[in-house]
Amino acid sequence: MLKPLRKAVMPVAGLGTRFLPATKTVAKEMLPVVDRPLIQYAVDEARAAGIEQFCFVTGRGKTAIVEQFDVAYELERTLEERGKARELAELRAQQLAPGSVITTRQQVPMGLGHAIWCARHFIQDEPFAILLPDDLMMCDVSCTKQLADAYKETGGNVVAIEEVPRERVNRYGVIDIAEDKGRLVSVKGLVEKPPVDQAPSNLTIIGRYVLMPEVIGHLAKMEKGAGGEIQLTDSMAKLIGTQPFHGVRYEGRRFDCGDKAGYLEAQVAFALARPDLAPAMKDILARYS
Ligand code: UTP
Repeated sequence: MLKPLRKAVMPVAGLGTRFLPATKTVAKEMLPVVDRPLIQYAVDEARAAGIEQFCFVTGRGKTAIVEQFDVAYELERTLEERGKARELAELRAQQLAPGSVITTRQQVPMGLGHAIWCARHFIQDEPFAILLPDDLMMCDVSCTKQLADAYKETGGNVVAIEEVPRERVNRYGVIDIAEDKGRLVSVKGLVEKPPVDQAPSNLTIIGRYVLMPEVIGHLAKMEKGAGGEIQLTDSMAKLIGTQPFHGVRYEGRRFDCGDKAGYLEAQVAFALARPDLAPAMKDILARYS
């Protein structure tokens, strides 16, 4: 019997140096795409996959992220008084159940692997999803749900993957393919940010994972990898051979909102996908083309 997937960890303790000076005082995960902060998209995606418990791994200056999911009494009352029923309903819909959010602290950003290890008491002995909110997904079926469905099929660890041009593999965790079955790929190795000529494939891991709790034991060894950081990929690699490990070619699009160009593209794509904004966005684009 597979344990149900109920928990999600969202590491949000990074410094966001690529977005300075904006991220000097505003958490990268609070940057909006159209009218919602990145963290909101990630939480909605996780809820659509049946996730019930959330852990934000935060750092200095990240308190607004937690407040985004709290009750804002004064604001709600004012909206009520002004008859803004639609806005009020939207705010209320985004609140999470009492007791379903916890935060833990990563005091020093020592890497993604270290951030996940900081959530160990939340994870305990259950499978868990990881969502990196700066990877913004546009999918008909929530990307995390696509992974959750694959987990039900295969058990074990499941990561979302996509093909990238060869010359860009050195920015990602890369998969060594055991067997390529199309949507599902069984994995025999993983390597973080390999030199282009040494990469085992051009299939790369994006910021969506379903992992087994045993990864924590490997993270606890605090071994540093690429860039001197404690890398999640290195500890995931150690699970291969002891547990199933699959990549899922997810259906949908990803926008790398940790990067300026990716963030700007997301603004355009998400505005064009909104009936209320698409005509205005098309006008704007026509003026600049
Ligand atoms: P990034 O690699 O994008 O790093 O982290 P960053 O610090 O956020 O941004 P740059 O590169 O300086 O511009 C990917 C995800 O992992 C989290 C980040 O918050 C982001 O969601 N992370 C990264 C941590 O929580 N802790 C870390 O030590 C590193």
